[in-house]
Amino acid sequence: MDAWDAIRARRNVRTYSPTPISESDLDRILEAGWRAPSAKNDQHWDFVVVDDRGQLQELSTVWMGARHIASARATIALVIPQPADERSKLLDQYDLGQATMAMAIAATELGIGTGHSAVGDQDRARAILGVPDDHLVAYLLGLGYPADRPLKPIRNPNRRPFTEVVHRGRW
Ligand SMILES: Cc1cc2nc3c(=O)[nH]c(=O)nc-3n(C[C@H](O)[C@H](O)[C@H](O)COP(=O)(O)O)c2cc1C
Repeated sequence: MDAWDAIRARRNVRTYSPTPISESDLDRILEAGWRAPSAKNDQHWDFVVVDDRGQLQELSTVWMGARHIASARATIALVIPQPADERSKLLDQYDLGQATMAMAIAATELGIGTGHSAVGDQDRARAILGVPDDHLVAYLLGLGYPADRPLKPIRNPNRRPFTEVVHRGRW
């Protein structure tokens, strides 16, 4: 699958087949995040990759929207330092989004689904992952081959109309 097809095929996958993800595919997905751009090239991120079923089940309890993590084949936790100020907070969130999307596209290209989750209970998430108190577990990205149907370009994505979103020259 090329980049354009991967962009069109990516969707949130929350049910996963039991097929394992190879080490090399997992490394490639992580490398995509590692290569992502960041403000001032700060790279205010660490990625904690988890494939232990017990840990994944525990992680699925850190947020009401994290239930899919329990059945993921692996999950990447995106961790950032506690932001020093409002500006860093804003930039770090932007940067995390770029790293997440790079990983999601790399995964999609391999036929592997991704499912975001926010994190509610920071103390619990930090304890499960051994993350120090001066860091935040910002997001989880569940990974696995989709249980429903393979990833392929979506003809009509659930989005606001293109012509409403895109402004040419002026608002
Ligand atoms: C910042 C962010 C946080 C999200 N948090 C969750 C979440 O906690 N749980 C979840 O199931 N999906 C979560 N999602 C997935 C979105 O609901 C999903 O991307 C959106 O509905 C569009 O669907 P699509 O990804 O299939 O195109 C999150 C997505 C983003 C970008």
